[in-house]
Amino acid sequence: MGGNEIVMGGHGFYNAHSQLQHSAISYGLPFLQRALTEVALPTSDRPFVVADYGSSEGRNSMEVMAIVVREVRRRAPATFPISIVHVDQPANDFSSLFMLLQSSPASYLCETQGVFAYATGGTFYGRLFPDGQVSLGWSSIAIHWLSRLPATDPDHIASGHSPPHIFARFSEQAREDWECFLTHRAHELRTGGRLVVVGGSADAQGTYGGEPLYDVANRILQQLVRDGYLRAQEYARMMVPTYHRTPEEFAEPLQQGTLRGRLLLEAQSQVTMPDPLWEQFGKAGDIQSFASKQTAWLRAWSEPSLFRHLDADRSPDNSSRIIEEFYGRVRLAIVQDPLAARCNWKISILLIAKP
Ligand SMILES: C[S@@+](CC[C@H](N)C(=O)[O-])C[C@H]1O[C@@H](n2cnc3c(N)ncnc32)[C@H](O)[C@@H]1O
Repeated sequence: MGGNEIVMGGHGFYNAHSQLQHSAISYGLPFLQRALTEVALPTSDRPFVVADYGSSEGRNSMEVMAIVVREVRRRAPATFPISIVHVDQPANDFSSLFMLLQSSPASYLCETQGVFAYATGGTFYGRLFPDGQVSLGWSSIAIHWLSRLPATDPDHIASGHSPPHIFARFSEQAREDWECFLTHRAHELRTGGRLVVVGGSADAQGTYGGEPLYDVANRILQQLVRDGYLRAQEYARMMVPTYHRTPEEFAEPLQQGTLRGRLLLEAQSQVTMPDPLWEQFGKAGDIQSFASKQTAWLRAWSEPSLFRHLDADRSPDNSSRIIEEFYGRVRLAIVQDPLAARCNWKISILLIAKP
């Protein structure tokens, strides 16, 4: 199967519908704070380089990077240069990111002088910086996206719902990808540097927290085949190239595998997140609003990975009709059964040092 150039919904759509990822990040902030007190500051006039691996359109990076700037400023003179590099795949909507940086009151560039923002379009499964360049790496809710789709499942769109022989292909790909990610970061990080990863995760039983919603989406895609919207071969190709690692799978290459001694796992934890949109629904009781928001959130990350599999002979109008029908039906299904859309995602947080 081909590469995984899948990005989030563009034109600011991801930024507008990524509240859940924003909540996940809050669990990484104590790890970030610790990283910022421990990380070695460059001693010469080299800048403190921060890499944001998998930034998307940047909304959720603003607060994180503002914390980084504040903490580095606390430890070093106000003139000390800080370079922040947002990394995402070439097709990412970097314009939205730069617009936000220039115009949003939440932009970390508002805080202080001497902070420089850059972006690079490349995969974090490859080398992105010269050796020993990065003082602090950050990656939130990106590492569950695999470098490629290792298999498809004729009956489901999510690896966590697949039979063992298909699931095993995903877990092997995830093992290779994680090792590859860490190997490149081991080169890029400076001695004394830190890397914080906040990643979608699963417990030892494989529960990852989004099962009911994935089942709703899968059931509706199957309905669309029965109702003549989708072709069977299109559905058969649809699979989201993600995998939710257990804490053990995250720790393995650092504790026993090839990265042992090169990178040090300083701290690790796993949390089960409350669903922020469900909590809002609980307070406001507005089922229409809940269904719309949960559908938009689902759409922001799933549309490119599902609907890139439509046949090439479909016109843009025809493709749009299918996509609108799908998300319209998802929305309706959520109104009818809101509990099925509640997601209690499991999140793993890791603090990694380059000794
Ligand atoms: C769900 S978004 C998370 C964005 C942001 N970090 C946040 O917390 O809201 C995942 C991002 O990871 C990016 N991504 C996935 N695979 C990638 C890869 N191999 N290299 C670089 N970025 C990747 C996607 O393009 C997407 O923008």
